[in-house]
Amino acid sequence: MPHCGQASVCSTWPPGPVSSRDSRRAGSHPEVPSPASILTRAWLEVGRGLPLPPGLTIDWRRGSAIALPFDEGGFDVVLCQQGLQFFPDRLQALREMRRVLAPAGRVALSAWTGPSPYFVAQRQGLERHVSVEAASTGLAAFSLGDADELRGLLQGAGFRDVVIQHVRMTLRLPPPEDFLLRHLSALPMAALVAAASEEARAALIAHMKEATSPYVDGYGLAVPQEVNVATARV
Ligand SMILES: C[S@@+](CC[C@H](N)C(=O)[O-])C[C@H]1O[C@@H](n2cnc3c(N)ncnc32)[C@H](O)[C@@H]1O
Repeated sequence: MPHCGQASVCSTWPPGPVSSRDSRRAGSHPEVPSPASILTRAWLEVGRGLPLPPGLTIDWRRGSAIALPFDEGGFDVVLCQQGLQFFPDRLQALREMRRVLAPAGRVALSAWTGPSPYFVAQRQGLERHVSVEAASTGLAAFSLGDADELRGLLQGAGFRDVVIQHVRMTLRLPPPEDFLLRHLSALPMAALVAAASEEARAALIAHMKEATSPYVDGYGLAVPQEVNVATARV
């Protein structure tokens, strides 16, 4: 267990810049591996294969947010980006984050407040060309958009100095032709999309391309997205 410097825990899928960038920002001590808790073995391997900035190490571990595989009080910072809304027991997950934090520990987490035009296009396309079931599986991502509910959960878990910031950001995504189907294959409705006919998938992608065309720029998609960012202390 890390005993000097700072460390961070994040729940990641797909593993990526989030863990390394935020571990670095959280001031993680280069010699102390930053544990990242991950649910699936497959994503663990993806995470372990990622190139890291010089001096930064991440110790990828498999574990559930409602039973973190770490002892009490070992971390100064817990980061959880777009995870809490998916956890089966949000209060228990927050209690776990608080349990692994040191006495003066801090938590930072984010949750979308509602679907951006990209996710609206995705849901409408799924409903029209795949199934209502496929469209509804994407709703969990926006199921914790209420700031008062988020504040109540953090206070309920024993955190203090809860601050919730409503942030309007630009979600940058790769060009639609490279990204739309690949993204769908990493989401909970992947199997339903894969089981649909070739024509239905082509119609879904055509719908999404059309609906997101106003947000295409020279680099890909730049879509407005709103998010609540919460911080709190033990
Ligand atoms: C939208 S992704 C966010 C991933 C990452 N933090 C990011 O910002 O790119 C939600 C993640 O929550 C994870 N998740 C869902 N339930 C979980 C649980 N009980 N324990 C740990 N992770 C969980 C999923 O596997 C998925 O990786």
